[in-house]
Amino acid sequence: MNRVYNFSAGPSVLPVSVLEKVKSEMMNYGQSGMSVMEMSHRSSVYQEIINKTEASLRDIMEIPENYKVLFLGGGASTQFAMIPMNLMKNNKIDIVNTGAWTKKAISEARRFVEVNIVASSEDENFTYIPELDNSKFSPDADYFHMATNNTIYGTRFTKIPDTKGVDIVADMSSNILSEVYDVSKFGLIFAGAQKNMGPAGVTIVIIRDDLIGHAGDGVPTMMNYKTHADKGSMFNTPPTFPIYVCGLVFEWIKSLGGVSGIQKINEEKAGILYNYLDESELFSGIVKKKDRSLMNVPFVTGDADIDAQFIKEAGKIGLINIKGHRSLGGMRASIYNAMPVDGVKTLVGFMKEFEAAR
Ligand SMILES: Cc1ncc(COP(=O)(O)O)c(C=O)c1O
Repeated sequence: MNRVYNFSAGPSVLPVSVLEKVKSEMMNYGQSGMSVMEMSHRSSVYQEIINKTEASLRDIMEIPENYKVLFLGGGASTQFAMIPMNLMKNNKIDIVNTGAWTKKAISEARRFVEVNIVASSEDENFTYIPELDNSKFSPDADYFHMATNNTIYGTRFTKIPDTKGVDIVADMSSNILSEVYDVSKFGLIFAGAQKNMGPAGVTIVIIRDDLIGHAGDGVPTMMNYKTHADKGSMFNTPPTFPIYVCGLVFEWIKSLGGVSGIQKINEEKAGILYNYLDESELFSGIVKKKDRSLMNVPFVTGDADIDAQFIKEAGKIGLINIKGHRSLGGMRASIYNAMPVDGVKTLVGFMKEFEAAR
């Protein structure tokens, strides 16, 4: 097995045990005589798969009964338009701007509603989480949009804001299932699968019942949450194979003690990397310490040539996809749930060697 340590920001590493299970079931799932890829989504055997995926997610996230779980296509980016289309009433939303993905959410929402930016960290290239001042919030906002973790810059909210009753919509694409969240604090949570849940192709939307069913007549059928909620995500063909793999990943999380179990492992992994960044004379983190992500860790040497050399040499020993996002340069190690502790230890070991050799 020539597996590398893949630090990609997404699509990203999956648990080996899940990939092995997929492999073992590839030709003949259960006694069906076919791969999940070949199955009708209307078959009873597939219905069992999607039911189990949903039940496992509900279990590990402790999703309350009054929330629906939707399995949709179109990527998390489609949600930037779908959310305002479905949730607008007063045609006004609040948002905290913490990076490229909230900027995209802002520009899509502006097609439909007035957007009030309550705070932004753009002044320092999104390397911190801005303080939120309650007086900037709109009491009549349809919802408050935030990204709990910012994939590119490596920041995360460590507290969920108090919006005084305004529903919170959270983009959890890059940290869903990495730490414990109380779902009841949110009106809607959405996340593309391809970082912490499974292969690209399915977007999971967790939405409180009462937010469904208010879309205007102009909203296309496929963009209406009610369409998918009423049909158990089977109005049309859902991304069947990614949903199946997500189900296996959810079971894997259960086997590690659920989300709280994996959170401890994530804190350990991030701790190993951040501790070294704090003591290194060559490498340094770029994010304000209190706002550091557990999932995406950007760092630099301060010299673009040394960064390039480091990335190249790391690649030679199977530490791959650590080049930073083009907007920041340097390096970024994405250490999602499925990145083993050993992967982070190997990376830090190599960073130490590289530093010592200079
Ligand atoms: C926080 C966040 N939101 C949204 C997206 C967009 O996801 P998709 O590519 O599934 O549309 C990404 C992708 O990296 C992301 O990191």
